[in-house]
Amino acid sequence: MIEPGQGHAFTPDTARSLAAEPCTLIIFGGSGDLARRKLVPALYNLLLDGILPPNYAVLGIGRKPLSDLDFRTSSREGVEKYSRQALVDRKWAEFETHLFYLSGAIDDPDLYENLKARVEKMEADLRLPGHRIFYLAVPPTSVASACEGLQRAGLVHRPDSSSPFCRVIVEKPIGRDLESARQINATVGKVFDESQIFRIDHYLGKETVQNIMVLRFANSIFEPIWNHKYIDHVQITVSEAEGVGTRATYYEETGALRDMVQNHLLQLLCLVAMEPPYSLDPDVVRNARIDVLRSLRPILGKDVEQFTVRAQYSHGKVHGVDMPGYRREPGISSDSTTETYVAVKLFLEDWRWAGVPFYLRTGKAMTKRASEVAVQFKDIPQILFNANPAAPLPPNVLRLRIQPEEGMSLRITCKVPGSKAQTYPVEMNFKYGDAFSAPSPEAYERLLLDVMAGDASLFMRRDAVEASWAWITGVLEGWQAQEVKWLPEYPAGSWGPVEADRLIQSDGRTWRTL
Ligand code: BG6
Repeated sequence: MIEPGQGHAFTPDTARSLAAEPCTLIIFGGSGDLARRKLVPALYNLLLDGILPPNYAVLGIGRKPLSDLDFRTSSREGVEKYSRQALVDRKWAEFETHLFYLSGAIDDPDLYENLKARVEKMEADLRLPGHRIFYLAVPPTSVASACEGLQRAGLVHRPDSSSPFCRVIVEKPIGRDLESARQINATVGKVFDESQIFRIDHYLGKETVQNIMVLRFANSIFEPIWNHKYIDHVQITVSEAEGVGTRATYYEETGALRDMVQNHLLQLLCLVAMEPPYSLDPDVVRNARIDVLRSLRPILGKDVEQFTVRAQYSHGKVHGVDMPGYRREPGISSDSTTETYVAVKLFLEDWRWAGVPFYLRTGKAMTKRASEVAVQFKDIPQILFNANPAAPLPPNVLRLRIQPEEGMSLRITCKVPGSKAQTYPVEMNFKYGDAFSAPSPEAYERLLLDVMAGDASLFMRRDAVEASWAWITGVLEGWQAQEVKWLPEYPAGSWGPVEADRLIQSDGRTWRTL
């Protein structure tokens, strides 16, 4: 186990120089799942940690006809069920007086007039300065109505230093291919300036994901070996035990490539592969990340056969519980060809990573929930302790565990105690939970705080969203041209299809078992 360095104080917050400001947060989709499971619990935890601004208001907007009281009750249930820290009655009583609700349909022009009156009254009653954040937790088809409605009602203004701030948070999915992503970006861009737009990829808010940059650029030992001379390959895995659950309609139209690879896995790739940015300025960091996306070698046409595998889960058991095959899940078409698993082998066309394969895989209904980045170093020469070709020494592997057991480990070879020259691989292991007593904040806590502070480092810029869709769209078109009627299957509760094993085994490598 590794412990915090003795005698070292924590360094000051180098990344965020701005403080979260008193503001009004207006959540479109306020009665939805995201608000109940993630957003309200995140705000409540910020309050418990004493980092929520001193004054604030949260207004949920949704179709459901709820009163403020109903909204507070359902928010409380959400916090009781999903909050990182337990509900404390005294704190909740304080928090809930800042929660409000307005019912209305997003495409109804009256909603925005009502919203304007309501927000102005709330701001006057609570003596808020008029800073506003609009959170669009709605399907992409509703983004245009919301932006236009806000503009028509005069609720939005372009940034200017003499007025209160006005920001918008856009939830995924931002499009389903390059063309639709461009359209959504253009729609939002007509109403908001790019500096006001915060596109969420919640993986960037995860503590362990942010640690990738710290690990690489706050330690001197990694950078010299972080390249094609020393690294054999990288595996990025995001496996989920849950099946499609109640999201059939969304998922049927989406699939694993759009749902997970286009955003979360490609962002992990960016952090692992980016060049050191010259400062922590949000745009400098985002420029460094986007260069990775731009250097992705396209996978086009028939290349999809060689570089990608898509599959669907069939009936099986996950953690001992029966799960139906994907095509038999409620709401899923019996001849669906939507992938619930995808594996990709990709290359970056740049100097640092020349010839290094990156293997990405993600799937639903797999053995367990586990995400990690594994950097495998090259084999040592076949001499000395590695002289026997029949029993090669296992390579060094640096694992960055993103969830659930956050931490990192390094596999190294050691001598077995005793008179023989025997070796054995051991793991040097660091666990966040052991090293730091406080549990890590949830991704949405950090992200909401950053929007209140106006720090866009952990958000997706328009060009990054479009660059990742440009690459993904190549794969999607290749798949479409295959005109398949069925996909390979993997039993629910397994590590994926044999086709994915073949993808990596044909290079003489294997997937890691997590
Ligand atoms: C979301 C996807 O973006 O991320 C879901 O839409 C997925 O399908 C989820 O389950 C995974 O997030 P996490 O934080 O649980 O790994």
